[in-house]
Amino acid sequence: MDYQKILDSIQSELSVLPHTGKVASYIPELAQVESEKLGMHLYSINSEHYSFGDSNELFSIQSISKVFALTLAMSLVEDKDIFKRVDVEPSGDPFNSLVQLEYENGIPRNPFINAGALVICDILISILKDPRKDFLEFIHKITGNKTININTKVYESEKAYSHRNAALLNLMKSFGNITNNLETVLDFYIYQCAIAMSCKDLSTAFMIYANAGKTLNNQKIISFQKTKRINAIMQTCGFYDEAGEFSFRVGLPGKSGVGGGISAIHPGQYAVTVWSPPLNPKGNSELGMHALEELTTLTGFSIF
Ligand code: DON
Repeated sequence: MDYQKILDSIQSELSVLPHTGKVASYIPELAQVESEKLGMHLYSINSEHYSFGDSNELFSIQSISKVFALTLAMSLVEDKDIFKRVDVEPSGDPFNSLVQLEYENGIPRNPFINAGALVICDILISILKDPRKDFLEFIHKITGNKTININTKVYESEKAYSHRNAALLNLMKSFGNITNNLETVLDFYIYQCAIAMSCKDLSTAFMIYANAGKTLNNQKIISFQKTKRINAIMQTCGFYDEAGEFSFRVGLPGKSGVGGGISAIHPGQYAVTVWSPPLNPKGNSELGMHALEELTTLTGFSIF
């Protein structure tokens, strides 16, 4: 497969595509990012790298971090102890919605909506010695890149505008589904979302989901069984109320973030990341979705 040729044609197609997306502004610092940024990186199972554009530039991974947090939690805690506190069903609602939590007794639909990710943070805080440091070290391990860190401006900016996530935490606490101090959980969640990575870093990290839980230098991060489950949750819940649309158009398990990144995998084939900050009304990168739709169309294969 000539992946570079395919990426080159995606790049030229995107450059002429009319777009209407808007860069996220509810976290003010994210609105500072140039909307024209565009990068894509594909890491193939035989260790080849293919890319175009701003694929080495750091951006805010935001909700893509939820996949890493779930992976770390599942590598340390038995599934039954996680999934009694957070379900594995698509929500069909926006990522930051409160409504289902009220009538579902504080049990979030899945680990990728904000409520579910906050429960995963609570679980990690209970078991990690130094949650921030341990989480960052986990990212270093799966990427092989020890320079990865948070963007402190994004961290502080989200801290000042986190009322909705605080509301989710309070509601879940009232149902007994948060055990640690609310401020501590909120802080750790905002910290993980503020991590800055490039398309190349993210594709390298996501290779574990394409390679049965192992890095390409054969470090086992998580079992095949758990990798299969994480990929299933990405497929059904990775794009919130647009998970169906992403499956329909792209046909790969993936995860988006409001920083404009999307990472996806084709099991046994590749991990791919695209970054374009303007988002569609559901909070997913508009051009990113288009790029990945083209990728599965031009390669002629998806998981379906
Ligand atoms: O909690 C938030 O609102 C952000 N830190 C993350 C949201 C996000 O990335 C949703 N994804 N598309």
